[in-house]
Amino acid sequence: MLKDKHITIGVTGGIAIYKILSLVSRLVKEGADVHVVMTENAQKFVSPLLFETLSKNRVITDTFNREDPKEVDHISLAKLSDLVLVAPATANIIAKAANGIADDFLSTMLLAVTSKKAFAPAMNTNMLNAPPTQRNIETLKKDGAYIIDSATGMLACGDVGSGRLPEPEELYEHVLYLLSEKDLEGKKVLVTAGPTVEMIDDVRYLTNRSTGKMGYAIARAAALRGADVTLISGPTSLGTPMYVNRVDVKSASDMYEACVKAFPGTDITIKAAAVADYTPAEYREGKIKKAGDMDLQLVRTKDVLKELGSMKKEGQVLIGFAAEASDIEHNALGKLEKKNLDAIAANDISRSDAGFGTDTNEVTMYFRDGEKKILDKAGKFEIANRLLDEALRILA
Ligand code: CTP
Repeated sequence: MLKDKHITIGVTGGIAIYKILSLVSRLVKEGADVHVVMTENAQKFVSPLLFETLSKNRVITDTFNREDPKEVDHISLAKLSDLVLVAPATANIIAKAANGIADDFLSTMLLAVTSKKAFAPAMNTNMLNAPPTQRNIETLKKDGAYIIDSATGMLACGDVGSGRLPEPEELYEHVLYLLSEKDLEGKKVLVTAGPTVEMIDDVRYLTNRSTGKMGYAIARAAALRGADVTLISGPTSLGTPMYVNRVDVKSASDMYEACVKAFPGTDITIKAAAVADYTPAEYREGKIKKAGDMDLQLVRTKDVLKELGSMKKEGQVLIGFAAEASDIEHNALGKLEKKNLDAIAANDISRSDAGFGTDTNEVTMYFRDGEKKILDKAGKFEIANRLLDEALRILA
């Protein structure tokens, strides 16, 4: 997503500067062309050489130090950039940008930027909450800038409160969001993920090997592409992707209730959850005491996807997953038909590099019109984006 994107990071003088080193390194690894502009105060914390080495571009520190006399740097860099992110953004740069003050390279360039502008405020809580800073942030928002909310926690000054610069991974997500094509804007996307947990007593339960990675990757990709995303998730250890509305469920029966409630009005539904097919016939409170061998009676759960298939209206796209160890095509096509799906993504769970718990996946998609497409092995985020491309194609 970041190939051929030109990103300029405006670094101002804040202790959180060290987080920007990781951010720049990550952006470069993901294929972006990154330029760093440092204010005079920023250079007191970190040497430009460090950013220069990481970004592989000359770091700009001064308006008048021009190597190419034909180019006016602050204008050419403003024109080149798809995004200018000021991070950490001190109260001073926020005040200058909000009021059009142009007294150094960064503030001058910010006036010339017509593409996207973002600010990640980082400062002491009292400075952040001070009326002038809040007024300036509001002004920047009104002028169309994107403000990355600061995090809460221990600050460099020892105070605890808001004003922390978010971690590099979170800043990276904001950059991705700002630069992603919003082709799912206005679309409601429902995704399910993770395993379900069926309680036997208060201590034991039945579950399966799903980690939720595939479903979370789909929810993340859909949100980055501008969709209004609801993620119904069984218990996982994963963090909620940015701008995703997550609904936590535990059992297959909870998953059924939540999905049936959320499904009407959705444009695209992708069911990546591994829902238990059986649940204990009775749940026993407390802890069952051992006494010889034990028979555990299981009863069938409701098939959530099949129910959604029967509720599906014209204009709704419904995609399921099929976890198969053998006869993949035959089984997947059977599920496509039986559950009234538009497409099914089949996983070969006998492979060690696809399916449960892995970071990569390879799926074969079968469509209602008989078409078949192999989504070649790739990271789950990449596979998620290709699945969403297919969902959009069906929707169209
Ligand atoms: N699914 C569901 N509710 C269930 C079981 C499965 O919604 N009770 C959904 C899964 O989320 C997945 C699809 O149905 O999108 C296929 O799941 P899978 O486990 O591959 O197949 P099953 O239908 O459960 O059939 P089997 O276990 O016999 O292969």
